[in-house]
Amino acid sequence: MIELVDVKKIYKKGKIDVSALRGVTMQVEEGEFLSIMGPSGSGKTTLLNAIGLLDEPSSGTICLFGNEASGLGRRDQARLRGTAIGFVFQSFNLVSNLQAWQNVALPLRYAHVARADRRKRAIEALGLVGLQDRADHYPSELSGGEEQRVAIARSLVIDPKLILADEPTGNLDSGSGNDVMKQFQLVNSLGTTLIVVTHDVLVSPYARRHLGMLDGRIESDEMAPSAN
Ligand SMILES: Nc1ncnc2c1ncn2[C@@H]1O[C@H](COP(=O)(O)OP(=O)(O)OP(=O)(O)O)[C@@H](O)[C@H]1O
Ligand SMILES: [Mg+2]
Repeated sequence: MIELVDVKKIYKKGKIDVSALRGVTMQVEEGEFLSIMGPSGSGKTTLLNAIGLLDEPSSGTICLFGNEASGLGRRDQARLRGTAIGFVFQSFNLVSNLQAWQNVALPLRYAHVARADRRKRAIEALGLVGLQDRADHYPSELSGGEEQRVAIARSLVIDPKLILADEPTGNLDSGSGNDVMKQFQLVNSLGTTLIVVTHDVLVSPYARRHLGMLDGRIESDEMAPSAN
């Protein structure tokens, strides 16, 4: 489903070149729940952004759902992102003057879902994270954990094949962090492939495969002994 071969990323900053990825080769099968851990600066976000077609690698190839990314034009890349990939970030990135359901409905515009269906689809997605009764709340009227669950609902609303999450529990206390991870586990059990970047030891019991990154490379790749 996802295949990277010798992916490198060099950021050029003035006279300094930073090698953020130094040749990453990996495969992810459909239905996996993968965590990526590693020290700050080891290239986790860079890798996630490359997989999500948010940022182009300097060299190497990325295949997503049978498409070679570099062979797709910008428009096709954007379409693939908008229809097949959900993103969740550390800072929930909700729009403060939109109600929860309106935030969740945003990706449906880009997926060309008819306006009349958007509220219904958004409420369904909020139901999946247990927040249908908060649909009309603004972000400021929600707890941090609830905000992140709204962000997960927003990533789910397009029914993505793949969800990419970068430090999704980074701004949450451990209780809310566990709630969020339980939602991810549910989503994964329904068939969505999940890649979660994290510093947080709380996250690892939920994932079934763990990649360790160090200095722009994958240093370890282990399956969890038993599924949680
Ligand atoms: N836009 C950029 N321009 C220049 N250098 C960058 C840029 N983005 C990242 N880097 C550098 O690339 C390296 C990898 O960064 P990356 O954000 O992928 O690390 P990370 O593992 O996600 O770290 P953290 O855990 O702190 O989020 C770092 O050394 C960083 O300084
Ligand atoms: Mg990062």
